[in-house]
Amino acid sequence: MEKLVVNGQKPLNGEIYISGAKNAAVAIIPAALLIDGPCRIENVPDIKDIRTLKDILASLGAEVQYEDKNTIDINSQSVNSYTAPYELVKSMRASYYLLGALLGKFKRAEVSLPGGCDFGFRPIDQHIKGFEAMGAKVEIEHGVIKVYAEELTGCQIYMDVVSVGATINLMLAAARAKGTTIIENAAKEPHVVDVANFLNAMGANIKGAGTDVIKIKGVDSLAGGATYSIIPDMIEAGTFMVAAAATKGDVAIRNIIPKHMESLTAKLIEMNIKVIEGEDWIRVIGCDNLQKANIKTLPYPGFPTDLHPPVAVLLCLAEGTSTITEGVWDSRFQYAEELKRMGAHIKVEGRMAVIEGTPQLSGAPVRATDLRAGAAMVIAGLVAQGTTEIYDVKYIDRGYEDLEAKLKGLGADITRVDD
Ligand code: EPU
Repeated sequence: MEKLVVNGQKPLNGEIYISGAKNAAVAIIPAALLIDGPCRIENVPDIKDIRTLKDILASLGAEVQYEDKNTIDINSQSVNSYTAPYELVKSMRASYYLLGALLGKFKRAEVSLPGGCDFGFRPIDQHIKGFEAMGAKVEIEHGVIKVYAEELTGCQIYMDVVSVGATINLMLAAARAKGTTIIENAAKEPHVVDVANFLNAMGANIKGAGTDVIKIKGVDSLAGGATYSIIPDMIEAGTFMVAAAATKGDVAIRNIIPKHMESLTAKLIEMNIKVIEGEDWIRVIGCDNLQKANIKTLPYPGFPTDLHPPVAVLLCLAEGTSTITEGVWDSRFQYAEELKRMGAHIKVEGRMAVIEGTPQLSGAPVRATDLRAGAAMVIAGLVAQGTTEIYDVKYIDRGYEDLEAKLKGLGADITRVDD
């Protein structure tokens, strides 16, 4: 079992380059199943979830080859199976995108129910409602979700909750359906737009992605043949922005889209941190008197839930009492118990955490209870006095490319140890 060992209190300084967006890549790679020819995907993050997806596509019969560690060539012409095996899908939540992609391709899909990060009940009723509205039958048997349709037909679907996964899954199923599908109350996240742009580059007809009404005119086939580059990862960028601020460092975060960072940038400025924006970079300069803030996570363009645990560390260090209200997930506070072990003063009440600032955290053995909680532990370790050992690194590896190398490049003292 591996752990990360962090010796804290070293300000981060310098510049780093952000990788491609995990939550776009985990949808775009399954989306390649819909294409009847080759495609090249660039700026793919080199993370565990992507390697798992590559194996899943190969097991379905696709030709998948790495041109380099961030460029993948996929040809799905030879895909001959609509069944994704449990051994491969169990570790990743985003395996549900195989449902929409295989349904769109074969009008049939059988995929084990997804695993992934555990922070509460994670229903897929909106995905199912959408597939059914398009004419599919959905059954769950022995942990496998089976979807099939005589014909997939366009329809109008109103999402009861704003769901990234359901919005993307329905775009995938609808891209080759008969007629036009209209998704109302759609998610507006940049990765939703990225998946639509990828499919359009391959021949689909999707309009409105990035607004709450998306119109997908089904096409007979997607010819492919194009190269597509994935957008930068706004959550990785945000994690480094917070790490720079928390360590009172000075870091230029490059290869990003500053507009995607607006909700975080505004909060950092409110907390007294200096943020300078360029065309594709943001520089964050920490301060000595961090001010309290109240944060509520919401679907995009609101404050991202995936930055909630990292930013909680910053609030632990701010003067006064701050709050975080989780507006997306039922339960995302497992990290709080770990931070308390490091001297943080956090009280969780329902979906809200009340945080009393403290001038100093102290190093301790802690667990990464999920991917973003793991990122929070790393940031806490970077600021804490003494040594922090972070267990369950496997969660962090699911979603951050070269985290240790990038942090070391900024001056952090972090090493991976086989325990
Ligand atoms: N929801 C339903 N029914 C559904 C789907 C969702 O009630 O059918 C609810 C969920 O329970 C939740 C809310 O809707 O309360 C939002 O869920 P959403 O479907 O948007 O989440 P997701 O697609 O499963 C993606 C990211 C998550 C991120 C959320 C919210 C991927 C692979 N995952 O999950 O990212 O937290 O959107 O932005 O894209 C992460 O990267 O660490 C991560 C967990």
